Amino acid sequence: MKKILVTGGSGFIGSHTCLLLLEEGHEIFVIDSHINSSPKSLERLSTIIEAENIFLNGKLHIYKGDLRDNKILKKIFLDANKNGGSIDAVLHFAGLKSVSESFNSPMLYWDANVNSTINLLKVMEANNCKTIIFSSSANIYNSKTPQLTTENSEINPVNPYGRTKAVIERILTDIFESASDTWRIANLRYFNPIGAHPSGFIGEDPQGVPSNLFPFITQVAAGRRKELTIFGNNWPTKDGTGVRDYIHVMDLAEGHLRALKYLLDSKPRLLNLNLGTGKGTSVLELIETFEKVNKVSIPYSFVNRRKGDLPITIASNELCKTCLNWTPQRTLEDMCRDGWKWQLQNPKGYFNSNENF
Ligand code: NAD
Ligand code: UD1
Repeated sequence: MKKILVTGGSGFIGSHTCLLLLEEGHEIFVIDSHINSSPKSLERLSTIIEAENIFLNGKLHIYKGDLRDNKILKKIFLDANKNGGSIDAVLHFAGLKSVSESFNSPMLYWDANVNSTINLLKVMEANNCKTIIFSSSANIYNSKTPQLTTENSEINPVNPYGRTKAVIERILTDIFESASDTWRIANLRYFNPIGAHPSGFIGEDPQGVPSNLFPFITQVAAGRRKELTIFGNNWPTKDGTGVRDYIHVMDLAEGHLRALKYLLDSKPRLLNLNLGTGKGTSVLELIETFEKVNKVSIPYSFVNRRKGDLPITIASNELCKTCLNWTPQRTLEDMCRDGWKWQLQNPKGYFNSNENF
């Protein structure tokens, strides 16, 4: 059992990872400002865990606060020390993630993503906690070719959001190089996480109009939006629509647990790893699979390409497979089925949800 600080643990990927951490018996300390999430996600974890006959026994500690607030961070580390031991590692999910918002409010993104991380790192160092897994993104690459993106592909983000991720990776690399015999760091570069926990109790809950494809599809299927607009039908791809590497959020969460174990069991090191499936799916293929698996219809029309879009991004996941002995297990059908179950059980996300599911 380890003591793990999870930043942004109420969010989409964080909540699924918290569930697995609790299932493995870890004690977790979650900090989240709820700027893009609901506290209900963590309440739901207890429901899932209890249904599995696992007893939390005070192993889930929740703090509402912002990472830029030193006081709350220090308090968490102090609290963790109370019953002996200390925070062993940090899973750092907290951050803002909208590309379009980052174009409109770059200062907000630099402050929320980079300054938060610097603050966190300072408090970690002061408490001699030197193991961190950082939520990076495929967005740091700017792959213009159909080849698989490897960890050595050029880093050249084209929007403020991606630049904050690349800079945080740079900061972490500098810190590692300054004391490479003490830090254990993993920059996990996610491709396109979708789906939900198979229970349908936790899932993705975007605020406002979803900017990503999958939540848009589920909301169209549910009748919450009239139709999907597809950004371009003339891309140099198999059917003219954009191709992405979709990965089930549970596979992604499991990747974090592997990375955590790997880091804690090995000597200090810095890892840069892609988390993806290595398979490309076009927009039309995703729609077709979703319709078939869930027996629903997704009306759509084509519009112009979206600013900043790329034709194809697919991960090479060879490094992750060999290093972490981790391979994504779930299919595109699983992603579509689980994501739809979440949408059906929570038509308005966590907001106004019927807790008697
Ligand atoms: P999310 O918005 O659902 O979760 C992020 C959480 O962090 C939210 O609960 C939010 O309230 C919290 N948060 C934000 N700023 C905070 C701050 N300053 N202090 C405390 N809490 C704060 O997003 P997600 O999809 O779960 O993504 C998690 C991480 O993974 C993010 O850093 C994101 O940039 C990165 N990422 C996500 C994707 C994706 O497609 N979802 C892809 C690549 C990388
Ligand atoms: C987008 C972001 C990326 C971010 C990622 C995860 C842009 C340009 N890129 O990536 O920085 O890391 O989300 O948050 O915003 N599509 C439609 N109609 C829609 C929505 C999307 O056709 O309503 C298409 C897109 O053109 C793309 C595919 O669906 O071809 C996937 O889009 P999306 O889910 O937004 O993911 P990314 O483009 O990979």
